[in-house]
Amino acid sequence: MHPKVRRAANKMTLHTGRHFLQIPGPTNVPDRVLRAMHRPVIDHRGPEFARLGAEVLEAMRRVFRTKANVVIFPASGSGAWEASIVNTLSAGDRVLMFETGHFSGLWRQVAERMGLVVDYVPGNWRRGVSPAEVESRLISDNNHAIKATMVVHNETSTGVTSDIAEIRQAIDRAHHPALFIVDTISSLASIDYRHDEWGVDVTVAGSQKGLMLPPGLSFHAISEKALAANKTAKLPRYYWDWQEMLKLNRQGFFPYTPATNLLWGLREALLMLEEEGLNNVFQRHHRHGQATRAAVHAWGLEIVCENPKEYSNSLTAVFMPHGHDADKFREVVLNNFDMSLGSGLSELAGKVFRIGHLGHFNDLMLAGTLSGVEMGFDLAGVPHKSGGVAMGIKSLLESLRRIPGARTSRGERSVLI
Ligand SMILES: Cc1ncc(COP(=O)(O)O)c(C=O)c1O
Repeated sequence: MHPKVRRAANKMTLHTGRHFLQIPGPTNVPDRVLRAMHRPVIDHRGPEFARLGAEVLEAMRRVFRTKANVVIFPASGSGAWEASIVNTLSAGDRVLMFETGHFSGLWRQVAERMGLVVDYVPGNWRRGVSPAEVESRLISDNNHAIKATMVVHNETSTGVTSDIAEIRQAIDRAHHPALFIVDTISSLASIDYRHDEWGVDVTVAGSQKGLMLPPGLSFHAISEKALAANKTAKLPRYYWDWQEMLKLNRQGFFPYTPATNLLWGLREALLMLEEEGLNNVFQRHHRHGQATRAAVHAWGLEIVCENPKEYSNSLTAVFMPHGHDADKFREVVLNNFDMSLGSGLSELAGKVFRIGHLGHFNDLMLAGTLSGVEMGFDLAGVPHKSGGVAMGIKSLLESLRRIPGARTSRGERSVLI
């Protein structure tokens, strides 16, 4: 080996096997999805594309649990945030938003930059949106100045979920006509979500989390009420405009060049989700969330989410013991075990690390993830109680045994495998 190459190799830790991408998105992309994308680009105005477009739009409806319109943008989730606003609202409109963490704060910034007046209800980053607060805010808005209530379903910076069904009921109790706009970027296809049943007007989603794709696509499910609002909404829009998109989508086409190969990937990912069954997907995420929390409790560490009813099943955010830096710990884990853990964001930077347990994931990947965290604690000198991995595994086994048809004795197959 050339001496320069040897020196460079000695400096970095060499890794074998697979990288563990345990941030809460982008998530691990299944080989099947990678292979589905590895193909020549096709004509996006030809018949093969028309079939692909129609197929993925229809399958996305099933994931959103809606019969309404769905659109797909070649953009990250932030694009779909902006699109939800410019398609439904006008400058100067008042909207109700809730401080749940870093991402609710960014969405608020988008709204303010688009010229909306945001009533931003303060929160402590450890709790979800209070339906009672939604109700009282809307009841006191006698002249219906508030045009939309906007909620992040799963706050990715904290691992706290908000109860969308209950918030819908709160809006109904207040007899308020505001649109209901929900960000499901880190919950769709990992935590139960029902666009139609929960009366959501615009659901915002992204490709790189529960949908197991690389970043680059984002989505809306759009109610009839939101479509009606679109007709009178005055914010300027071109790229995000629903009308042109929906018109061409009827034939499976897009108004501009779509992300063709990502759509092939989406088709495969949606097939995988349908093969597993959405309810099994949610159950799998629930088991992995539960096992992760069992490990964290056994380590004697504190989870950011303080209300067990609001625990996220797609990620767990964990407070570091006082005086220990989360980013130094993450660096030790990355350098030694080739595992990426999520960082603390904004005010949680350095104080919190996040374990992503969503997307293409299974029991042994979780066991490996928890092992990497526990070994990282030891190497980085982070004080913790022993036995977290053992508790995680125990929780996985107990929940597996409770699944009807799961492996109960040697030779029987689990429905999840
Ligand atoms: C809940 C939530 N909303 C919005 C976003 C922004 O999406 P993107 O980074 O794809 O633009 C993220 C990104 O992680 C997110 O987790």
